[in-house]
Amino acid sequence: MIDPGKGHFQAVVSRRESLSPSCVLLSIERPRDFPEARPGHFVSIRVAHSIEPLLRRPYSIMDLTGSELVLLVKVIGKGSALLAGREPGDELDIIGPLGGTVFPEPEGGEAVMVAGGTGLAPVLFAARAWRNANLHLVYGASCAEEILESIVREGFASTHFATLDGSLGYHGDAVSLCAELVNGGKVGGSYLYSCGPKGMVSALEAGLGKRFTEHYTSLETIMACGVGACRGCTVPTRGEKSPAYRSICADGTVFRAREIAWEDWNDR
Ligand SMILES: Cc1cc2nc3c(=O)[nH]c(=O)nc-3n(C[C@H](O)[C@H](O)[C@H](O)COP(=O)(O)OP(=O)(O)OC[C@H]3O[C@@H](n4cnc5c(N)ncnc54)[C@H](O)[C@@H]3O)c2cc1C
Ligand code: FES
Repeated sequence: MIDPGKGHFQAVVSRRESLSPSCVLLSIERPRDFPEARPGHFVSIRVAHSIEPLLRRPYSIMDLTGSELVLLVKVIGKGSALLAGREPGDELDIIGPLGGTVFPEPEGGEAVMVAGGTGLAPVLFAARAWRNANLHLVYGASCAEEILESIVREGFASTHFATLDGSLGYHGDAVSLCAELVNGGKVGGSYLYSCGPKGMVSALEAGLGKRFTEHYTSLETIMACGVGACRGCTVPTRGEKSPAYRSICADGTVFRAREIAWEDWNDR
């Protein structure tokens, strides 16, 4: 477990860029003393000035430089809409960096990274952090306008897009595309990394997990406290006393995919 040395900060939005009908990129001035973070860490944000929504919302760190903290925000409900609507100059109440485990760097330097939707955020952070690695990105979304091509810039040896409606790249899901690429010898490496919907990650592990030495996944679920206190974000893992429940916010977000008891995980 890594203690990133979390803190509580008031930060100012410096830039807001609309990337698609549902996604914005929020750049935030890095608060003084904001600790270093690594791919898989997240922040917990108070999205409203009122009590509704009461709970903070968790967001993966997509980038962290000396001056900026960057988040990718997709609007799916009230809290994310409030956050995505923040303008430059607005203040944000942030706790972070949170998370007890992060993506380890790939052994041998070559790896495959599979991202679904906003699961792209920690994957982009890894690509920026591991500049010497040979990373292949397989990225899936529902349609062309939800493929955030403009932010998938440098950092990858190859990029491969999948859309469910076939409007860009491969017609189908990211897991099927990844299987084709791996089986065709077009991408490879010892490690597989993933972040995305539960169904995507469990299918990836079932279909391709054994082809890699390790499959590390950054998991997402609904969170309340974000710091391991409420046990509201647990995931069943295979242990001696199976299933053993671990919290995604504090024991994760990164787990070995083969350790998750996917068949017992009914989070919603
Ligand atoms: C560790 C972590 C990192 C995340 N990183 C990002 C990120 O980089 N970018 C991003 O856009 N989102 C990210 N999310 C998801 C984000 O936190 C949720 O979209 C947000 O909290 C939704 O709040 P809301 O008030 O808009 O939606 P709500 O009104 O709370 O919920 C709307 C609907 O979405 C469902 N829902 C809510 N949260 C989740 C979730 N985590 N997974 C699946 N369904 C959910 C609810 O059940 C409900 O049906 C992350 C989540 C976690 C746990
Ligand atoms: S959200 Fe409370 S333990 Fe994870």
